[in-house]
Amino acid sequence: MTRIILIGYMGAGKTTLGRALADELGLTFIDLDHFIEERFHKSIRDIFAEQGESEFRRIEQRMLHEVAEFEDVVISTGGGTPCFFDNIDYMNQMGTTVYLNVPVERLFIRLSIARKQRPLIKDKNDAELHNFIEEQLALREPYYKKAHHTFTADKLEDKTQISASVETFRRQFDL
Ligand code: S3P
Repeated sequence: MTRIILIGYMGAGKTTLGRALADELGLTFIDLDHFIEERFHKSIRDIFAEQGESEFRRIEQRMLHEVAEFEDVVISTGGGTPCFFDNIDYMNQMGTTVYLNVPVERLFIRLSIARKQRPLIKDKNDAELHNFIEEQLALREPYYKKAHHTFTADKLEDKTQISASVETFRRQFDL
């Protein structure tokens, strides 16, 4: 039974790499944010706006406990998932966790074009976004680094790079 759980900051490529990897390995791909949105018939952005972050974190933990029971899956989590409750220890027990490590400058480039649907950064200008990534990543890295493995996911900018990263991932983890 294979259960790979990808963790890392917003824009690290958890969904992009996770989907491509699952396809390549013939596994089911589960995106935790998407799973939450389907279950609640609401966007993450609306859950944050209507119920607040604390309630989102409770929902996120509950849904994590559902998806982490699935077998033969690649699961991509939200950027904050490992940093609340005992989620990272739980994920480490349930599957093989991999931290997608990406330098701040690359995260900034990716997130500056994809910030609108992300409630934590949607209202920030470029300078604020850059500072926020730097500061929040420093706070979150101790959790991310508890993952079983780390993978450098700085090259996921087009199809060719994604395929090459999937190959590197497979080789690195013998999949
Ligand atoms: C969050 C990241 C988002 C989503 C929510 C909160 C975070 O997921 O779960 O907006 O706290 O970093 P992505 O990492 O997929 O953007």
